[in-house]
Amino acid sequence: MGKYIIEGGKRLVGEINVTGAKNSVLPVLAATVINNDTSTIFNCPNLRDVEVMEQILKTIGCKVNRMDDMTYVDSRPINKMRISEELVREMRSSIILMGAMLARFGEVEISYPGGCEIGPRPIDLHLKSLRELGAIIEESHGFLYCKAENLRGCEIQLDYPSVGATENIMMVAVKAKGTTIIRNAAREPEIIDLQNYLNVAGAKIYGAGTSVIRIDGVDSFNSVEHNIIPDRIVAGTYMVAAAITGGEVVLKNIEVEHIQSIIAKLREAGCMVYNNCTTLKVIGPRRPNAIETVQTLPFPGFPTDMQAQMMALLSLANGTSIISETVFENRFKHVEELVRMGANIKTVGKAAVIKGVEGLTGAKVSAKDLRGGASLVLSGLAAKGTTEVDNIYHIERGYDGLEKILQSLGADIKKI
Ligand code: EPZ
Repeated sequence: MGKYIIEGGKRLVGEINVTGAKNSVLPVLAATVINNDTSTIFNCPNLRDVEVMEQILKTIGCKVNRMDDMTYVDSRPINKMRISEELVREMRSSIILMGAMLARFGEVEISYPGGCEIGPRPIDLHLKSLRELGAIIEESHGFLYCKAENLRGCEIQLDYPSVGATENIMMVAVKAKGTTIIRNAAREPEIIDLQNYLNVAGAKIYGAGTSVIRIDGVDSFNSVEHNIIPDRIVAGTYMVAAAITGGEVVLKNIEVEHIQSIIAKLREAGCMVYNNCTTLKVIGPRRPNAIETVQTLPFPGFPTDMQAQMMALLSLANGTSIISETVFENRFKHVEELVRMGANIKTVGKAAVIKGVEGLTGAKVSAKDLRGGASLVLSGLAAKGTTEVDNIYHIERGYDGLEKILQSLGADIKKI
């Protein structure tokens, strides 16, 4: 298990390019199954999760080539309807292949994704909606056996604006007879990116990015070229790296509309943020201000994927902040690790009370999940002395070349 060794106290200064969005390229790669043709996807990040999705596509028969940040998929040769269990277990978000395979073949066998480090991750909203569209889904021995001879459009009211459920419904509905309306749909930018990919492939989807999405079923598709949007969570993470070290960092290739809630909270914490549509500069304060409350919410609210990073920053603030995690049940695993570094944080149910301290001290800490692991690296950048972060495979699932990018900004970080 790899680890990062960080000597804290260096101010980060410089300029970086933000890579393509993990949570956009994963559903788009799943959707390449649908068009029974070729797809060329640009601005794909080099991440473990992307490799797993490409591996899954290969095991069912797709031709997949990767050249730098471009992934080429030919979905014509698919000859398997069963998605291998070990790969689905490795990455639960592969459940969005269920919708893509049902659209293409009207059948799929896929293992239950199971929980992960941040909570049970149920898929009840996915299953309920796909059944409303006409899918017959049997669950047995941890596997889902799905059939859908005649998919027909319908009106779906989501109990919760689930990102994955919205994506699965979109992918099935593009081939369903008639019109599907999704209400209380997720509004994340990654949903818009999936709509754009599918519409270039020949689908008729309207309204992604709003709570009501309309899909008119079609039955023929064509090849696609598509550019993945920038990763708003990777951007937010490097913004916090600048903030927590009192640095001055320029981020290029961002979509500023996707990170307005992150900009607002960093300004509240005392950062200066200057931006145009695709570039942004963050100047960190000498010491962050406390923020009375940070509540994680579905987009356009403050993202749950930035909760741990914000907590790292606020653990050094001049006052007490409260973070309320409303999206996931168990996303505070980084708290005890931050406390080992001298943070003063108490969790009460879905809330964490963070009493800012003057400084953190380097320690041996463990990454327990992707974003929690990132928050430990951020704390290590600011802590006095040496911080060792182990189990960094969690972090490498979502950050492409993290230590190299931080080194380019002046951080003293090594991967061993
Ligand atoms: C996506 O997960 C992201 N993953 C997550 O990013 C992100 O945290 C999450 O959306 C919220 O923004 C990908 O896009 C690959 P949800 P997803 O369905 O689709 C409950 C990261 O760090 N729920 O919106 O699984 C669920 O338990 C990852 O990059 C149900 O109850 O998120 C959770 O509490 C982590 N039943 C809440 O909804 C369902 O059927 C939000 O889940 C589905 C979800």
